[in-house]
Amino acid sequence: MRQAGRSLPEYRKVREGTTMLEACTRPDLVAEITMQPVRRYGVDAAILFSDIVLPLKAIGFDLDIVPGVGPVVADPVRRHEQVDAMGELTPADVPYITEAIGLLTAELAATPLIGFAGAPFTLASYLVEGGPSKNHENTKALMYSDENLWHALMAKLTDISAAYLHVQVAAGASAIQLFDSWVGALSAVDYVRYVMPHSQRLLSSLAETGVPRIHFGVNTGELLPLMRDAGADVVGVDYRLALADAAKRVGDSVVLQGNLDPAVIFSSPSAVRTQVDAVLDSARDLPGHIFNLGHGVLPTSDPEVLAAVVRQVHERTAR
Ligand code: CP3
Repeated sequence: MRQAGRSLPEYRKVREGTTMLEACTRPDLVAEITMQPVRRYGVDAAILFSDIVLPLKAIGFDLDIVPGVGPVVADPVRRHEQVDAMGELTPADVPYITEAIGLLTAELAATPLIGFAGAPFTLASYLVEGGPSKNHENTKALMYSDENLWHALMAKLTDISAAYLHVQVAAGASAIQLFDSWVGALSAVDYVRYVMPHSQRLLSSLAETGVPRIHFGVNTGELLPLMRDAGADVVGVDYRLALADAAKRVGDSVVLQGNLDPAVIFSSPSAVRTQVDAVLDSARDLPGHIFNLGHGVLPTSDPEVLAAVVRQVHERTAR
């Protein structure tokens, strides 16, 4: 998950003197940083070190990832000419991704590598707001006021993310995750009208690859059945909804991923154990479950606590 490696001293060391986006374009660094949490924790899968806005940078957007802030876009996208000017992404725009995944599949051997991309709504939010946003007011204003422009923007972002995911699968990623982190800001009715057709087209374009598709968002309890119907094999659940309750909403045709509250990592050792047990208890009767922290590892998390969580999950789920 986002920032899983960021809490590690070895991450801070290799990142010294390199910006986030530079690091994402250096195959040696991408491979090294992706491997760090795998080596330290022995987790069951690796997630590619990159960022959801990288493909937008790769096709020419003037944007940066500002430490402690997130993605910031120089010229927010709000006009037809800007959307018309958006190009497509080809494998030649991201050669370092193909190279990094080549290095990683060799080093990971049997450990799966999860590739990822931003879903069109979450990418649109960064582009339209110009940066992180609490209320997504500019994004919603565009969506409600100019539906044609909205769908044109979403269609372009769908093509970019689909192409980016296809590059990752072709290079050897064994699963993909679509991050619609901020889509929980929408009602189900708006999700169906403004987002779902695009996410559905994106996910169904990946179906032919045969790799499992994970669909994740924050605060999406009310949207889970729709996110399943958009074409996911795995649906991510944040800590707000117990996994057993999420399963009642989505049925047993999909696997659930989740859902330890990332803030739990700051609790006492016995409290952490209790909370991890609660997640695993809630997942006991699921047809499939991927344990993780709801929306990623907080940067000041203690690596020792994370190591203990991985050990506990492995002990309880060993066959
Ligand atoms: O463990 C990993 O590092 C996996 C790679 C990864 C990153 N970003 C690296 C990163 C992944 C999967 C992401 C996805 C991502 N990026 C999402 C979706 C996941 C989620 O959290 O819902 C979103 C919304 C972003 C946009 C973004 N990029 C944010 C909000 C931030 C944090 C800003 C901050 O500093 O608080 C980033 C920066 C970022 N992406 C960092 C990393 C390791 C921190 C970079 C640094 O300063 O060292």
